[in-house]
Amino acid sequence: MAQRPLTAMIGPGGPPDCAAYGLAGGWRGARRALRDLTPDAVITEVTDSRLRGRGGAGFGTGQKWSFVPRQPARARRKYLVANADEMEPGTFKDRLLLEGNPMQLVEGMLIAGYAIQASEGVIFLRGEYHLAFDRLERAIAQARQTGWLGRDILGSGFDFDIHVHASAGRYICGEETALLTALEGYRAQPRSKPPFPQVGGLWGAPSMVNNVETLCNVPHILANGAAWFRDLAPGSPDGGTKLFGVSGRVRRPGAWELPMGVPLRQVVEDCAGGMRDGYRLRAFLPGGASTAFLDAASLDIALDYATVEKAGSRLGTGLAILLDDRACPVGMLRNLEHFFAQESCGWCTPCRDGLPWVERLLAAIEEGTGQPRDLDLLADHVRLIGPPGRTFCPHAPGAMAPLASGLDLFRDEFLDHLRQHGCPRRMAA
Ligand SMILES: Cc1cc2nc3c(=O)[nH]c(=O)nc-3n(C[C@H](O)[C@H](O)[C@H](O)COP(=O)(O)O)c2cc1C
Ligand code: SF4
Repeated sequence: MAQRPLTAMIGPGGPPDCAAYGLAGGWRGARRALRDLTPDAVITEVTDSRLRGRGGAGFGTGQKWSFVPRQPARARRKYLVANADEMEPGTFKDRLLLEGNPMQLVEGMLIAGYAIQASEGVIFLRGEYHLAFDRLERAIAQARQTGWLGRDILGSGFDFDIHVHASAGRYICGEETALLTALEGYRAQPRSKPPFPQVGGLWGAPSMVNNVETLCNVPHILANGAAWFRDLAPGSPDGGTKLFGVSGRVRRPGAWELPMGVPLRQVVEDCAGGMRDGYRLRAFLPGGASTAFLDAASLDIALDYATVEKAGSRLGTGLAILLDDRACPVGMLRNLEHFFAQESCGWCTPCRDGLPWVERLLAAIEEGTGQPRDLDLLADHVRLIGPPGRTFCPHAPGAMAPLASGLDLFRDEFLDHLRQHGCPRRMAA
């Protein structure tokens, strides 16, 4: 049977406490890292494992850690931040890990903190995740009591503690530089780079921001070795397992831990029970709302970073949003662009003014007051706001990904809306 290290301890009885976590194999990774390895050796192990960040961009985790200045924790203030903001529409994977096994995140942060020699860890948590907040607080308190957090952990001379910051809640808080600005107590606004957070982050100190799922993989890599982690995904260029999921008109929407490189067909048909009766899959956003549509013919491509990119999209957070043959793609795009427009932080003109304009054009087409030239205007917006990006942060280019692909894939549907002065599906209903 395939191994599922990330979710192995998640069960119906709630999360394991500190002792149960240890009995089930927890803390082995932290013990090996702190007792047997130097911080550099931990970074090498994680680099060799081919773990890529699970927050969306898919940057190599070990490589990212290696950019942090080398001084030991006692010589220089450094921070480790777990990004638990998770507000991307269609994405709910970190919640499973936070609620199901918060101790795994604590151990992952301890090891990551040791690797970059941070003295403090912060969990930046989506404000609505109340259950996760309570469980994290309990896990951290237990880890402190048992000596896994605090001073001189395992007699290694390394001091590390963690606290939870409940976010006031904006999508942009998930962007790593906006997250750091919010932690400093200011309005969540992205910063221009350089300096990158690895060098000048929280209060100007070197800071590492990693996604929750990324950090939860780390204890298993340290406990079992880089080769074991790579072998979890045989034949894939990326190491390990991942939480893949689907939302849309499937029988059982959800997320499941599967090896990197599985095809989406396996997630949709085997895990989610297939499409509901009377619905056919038409297209999908493979990795959340800010990725480009792929049509149903791409259902069998491997879900790894390089393959999805070659197919014209991004693996993103690995949780696909499905479009079925009975839903209106124009309405779905309007919905998505409404979200992106509302969540602009307002700093750059193309994002602040351009996204609401896109939303208005889509609304007009859907409601029957659109003009044929609106399609060209939408394409102009894609060109001006989309990649390579003319804005401080990737929010605006990300918002253009579903639109650019949607204008290509669903052109006939757009034209039908214009010809019939409204949504043909709504009029037929
Ligand atoms: C608008 C926006 C929202 C984001 N939201 C999240 C989020 O909720 N969680 C997350 O881990 N990364 C999010 N990211 C990506 C982070 O900026 C960052 O790349 C990530 O946390 C790095 O972690 P990783 O290297 O472990 O993937 C977001 C990026 C953008 C542009
Ligand atoms: S792209 Fe949008 S969200 Fe990002 S900094 Fe500019 S205005 Fe803010």
